Amino acid sequence: MLTVLITGANRGIGLEFAKQYAKDGWTVIACCRDPEGESAEDLRAIADGADGRVHLEKMDMLDHSSIDAVAAQYKGKPIDILLNNAGIIGPVPIQDHLDAQHFGTIDYDVWDTVIRTNTFAPVKMAEAFVENVEASEQKKIITLSSTVGSLQEDKTAAFCYCTSKTAVTKAVQLISEVLRDKGVIAMAFCPGYVKTRMGVGGATVEIPDSVSGMRGLIDTFTMDDTGTFRRFNGDTVAW
Ligand SMILES: NC(=O)c1ccc[n+]([C@@H]2O[C@H](COP(=O)([O-])OP(=O)(O)OC[C@H]3O[C@@H](n4cnc5c(N)ncnc54)[C@H](OP(=O)(O)O)[C@@H]3O)[C@@H](O)[C@H]2O)c1
Repeated sequence: MLTVLITGANRGIGLEFAKQYAKDGWTVIACCRDPEGESAEDLRAIADGADGRVHLEKMDMLDHSSIDAVAAQYKGKPIDILLNNAGIIGPVPIQDHLDAQHFGTIDYDVWDTVIRTNTFAPVKMAEAFVENVEASEQKKIITLSSTVGSLQEDKTAAFCYCTSKTAVTKAVQLISEVLRDKGVIAMAFCPGYVKTRMGVGGATVEIPDSVSGMRGLIDTFTMDDTGTFRRFNGDTVAW
């Protein structure tokens, strides 16, 4: 049976990944900050209808000991897809906190938290679960980045969020090189401008469309794709 581990599985894109993989019969290790709390209600409902295949685990991207604890629990168990989904844009709603990310009024505490969540945590996850991925059939590490991190395609001036995504995309490329000989495929994805808590305002893409697009592509990825940065519709992001 195939297994996916998803971070930030309690809402938005992560929740939809959990729902779709569970529906297709996968074992889902669904990680979130508060599995017992109100924010995981929808995730618990998915788990309740999945015949014991969806496992809720408590994990905070800002607390590496919580990552190590889950890794210790799953030691020796294959994980086909490690899905680094959890991320933050900064304080929300973003339109009320733009100053924190704009030159001249940057809030460095915000930047610190955004970088630790969006850049450090996916790398830490890869370090913590690499043996599980190597032991699996599909051997894939998928990280949600964003086109706003591209040096070529985007000039959005949100310093904290954009740089965190530039850095994590570079980290994905480095991970892909380090793990190439082990047959592990590491990829970065932009999910589109999706209608989640994060993608307010001008978001155009429905959550199920983004996730089914990415899942279809993840299925087809081979070592030829490792280290690349793709959009949910399959285009390569120039970054
Ligand atoms: N939506 C878009 O348009 C868009 C565009 C480009 C890239 N992305 C990327 O797609 C990914 C998913 O975003 P989304 O749109 O689904 O946003 P979202 O609805 O805000 O969901 C973000 C998820 O990340 C979790 N998370 C944040 N900080 C965490 C932490 N310290 N520990 C554990 N979980 C944490 C959240 O948990 P809580 O519920 O506990 O806060 C939530 O489950 C992110 O990496 C984002 O940067 C999104």
